Amino acid sequence: MKKNRVGSICLLIILFIFNMSCSFNNSNKNGMGAATITTQHFGTFEGKPITEYTLTNASGMQVVIINYGGIITKIITQAKDSSWGDVVTGYDSLEGYTQKDTPYFGALIGRYANRLAKGKYTIDGVDYSAALNNNGHSLHGGLKGFDKVVWEAAILPGDSSVQLNYLSKDGEEGYPGNLKVQVVYTLTANNAIKIEYTASTDKTTILNLTNHTYFNLTAGKSNTIYDHLVQINANKFTPVDASLIPTGELLEVKGTPMDFTSPKKVGQDIDKVMGGYDHNWVLNKADGLQEVASVYEPISGRYLTVATTEPGLQFYTGNFLDGTLKGTKKGIVYNKHYALTLETQHFPDSPNQPGFPSTLLKPGEPYHQTTVFTFSIK
Ligand code: GAL
Repeated sequence: MKKNRVGSICLLIILFIFNMSCSFNNSNKNGMGAATITTQHFGTFEGKPITEYTLTNASGMQVVIINYGGIITKIITQAKDSSWGDVVTGYDSLEGYTQKDTPYFGALIGRYANRLAKGKYTIDGVDYSAALNNNGHSLHGGLKGFDKVVWEAAILPGDSSVQLNYLSKDGEEGYPGNLKVQVVYTLTANNAIKIEYTASTDKTTILNLTNHTYFNLTAGKSNTIYDHLVQINANKFTPVDASLIPTGELLEVKGTPMDFTSPKKVGQDIDKVMGGYDHNWVLNKADGLQEVASVYEPISGRYLTVATTEPGLQFYTGNFLDGTLKGTKKGIVYNKHYALTLETQHFPDSPNQPGFPSTLLKPGEPYHQTTVFTFSIK
């Protein structure tokens, strides 16, 4: 009996030492912890389980993603005073994300990011109508875009990437072709969130994917983004009419409130733009992945850069936030200009604008776009 007890105690001590040495090895690899992904049940939508994936990198930065809408629900990064904070808008539970008229917080957007005038477009002489949901236009994919569907999710080897897959059936929301979409979110060791989009179709269609994360880099210390310094590598932007449909022109930013060619406080000229910024900038770039924009927030010292393969960037300052959303994180009131989005994309309404880069996707053609958000401290 006594022998047994001594034996058990020895076993416990051995297990304890082994466990300690494992966690020691883990947290001291290169002086830091290893990358991990943990999962948690986040609710049920249309009978399907929704899972929350928490990606943590070696330095402790975290990105949280759910497979409803492929939504980034949290990005937790460090400030210059070493405190950690969540720099994106969102809700405490799934019910928040599924409520009517949520403004696409953190979501994947498709098939067509931003607006298609009157929902109309023509492919090879055939007229199509995308579902209308915005003042007689089609916005962000229509009534049930990629932000409102359940994606199949898988953790990729290496514990730093989550892959999301969605099959958008022929005719869905007024778009032709069975479209297979894959999005891979990766949290890298150097505090970057890489978003890789690939897709293929069996009929010619149009495609314009993006992610709609709203950033406030103060992580709750300020309820506007007026003091964020934004820089966008773009000499031109696409002006819009009163219903936010591009006129088709490419206008110079020089000498206008749209000039962000050097870092500028968002609040400096925002009053000169009706409602605030909600425009597509024509990026100065060649093909391929290139850094195109940055945001610096002086209170926290957080610095965010954006690199993309896309030709455009929708810089939107949360003009339609009005403090009425329910179930927000810790009850935060998201009022107008609380947060900003940096939606890398093709230009709005491109199928109806012959002067804009094409968004056509044909069978057998690859669709591959990448956007990288990198966080650091200055
Ligand atoms: C933006 C769009 C805005 C608004 C917002 C969602 O991408 O440019 O006009 O619709 O999404 O509330």
